[in-house]
Amino acid sequence: MRLHSTLASWSEVRSSAEYRDRTIGFVPTMGALHEGHRSLLERARRECGRVVLSIFVNPTQFNDPTDLERYPRTLESDCLLANGLADDVVMPAPGEMYPDKYAFRVTEHDFSRILEGAHRPGHFDGVLTVVLKLLNIVRPHRAYFGEKDWQQLQLVRSMVDALFVPCEIVGCPTVREDDGLAKSSRNRRLSPAARALAPRFAAILRQSNNADAAAASLRSAGFEVDYVSDWERRRLGAIRIEGVRLIDNVLL
Ligand code: PAF
Repeated sequence: MRLHSTLASWSEVRSSAEYRDRTIGFVPTMGALHEGHRSLLERARRECGRVVLSIFVNPTQFNDPTDLERYPRTLESDCLLANGLADDVVMPAPGEMYPDKYAFRVTEHDFSRILEGAHRPGHFDGVLTVVLKLLNIVRPHRAYFGEKDWQQLQLVRSMVDALFVPCEIVGCPTVREDDGLAKSSRNRRLSPAARALAPRFAAILRQSNNADAAAASLRSAGFEVDYVSDWERRRLGAIRIEGVRLIDNVLL
């Protein structure tokens, strides 16, 4: 597995014979890899001749600077998890990704403004902009995204269609702990008490009769609720426990 800390280094490999005539699979991440990311890499490995992983903590998608600061950076363990699954890891510095200082950005004016977007202004502009940059840099045939970030997945699909990006977006099922908590890089910030409570989040989303009842039950269980909403046969929600924000969604 080769690590590229500059785009020039990656670009040399991308244009080499090794990448010619092969299906290229891409897993974009912000690092702090967990079993959810492993399942994306495994699927890409099964379906593609070459697998590229990106690790880039994208500053433009954090509307809260403390959240960006606290985001776990775990390159050593990320490499251990990806070893044998990814062929190349692209991990550029922010300056290289944003030579324009974010003067150019992708903005979606409809679906990105509700649910997560209503609570994190600008978040999806940052996500869509960096995903488009990464797709242009990696030039994959397929890119793999987890369904845990369901709204992100839908927006990336719509962007790729709208802008004629020649890449198939593959959605992959959420990977959960045995107790039902969705795997997330943020889980490692939960205190033991918060971790014990966290699985109630998915359980309540699943068991409640409607979104309002789910929000009420989550509050009674001790969560702060940002939103719970039913959308296209899915129940989506975001909650906070001891300042850690978690999102999840379940099929109704
Ligand atoms: O889902 C994520 O980890 C990020 O939003 C992504 C897609 C890597 C863009 O920074």
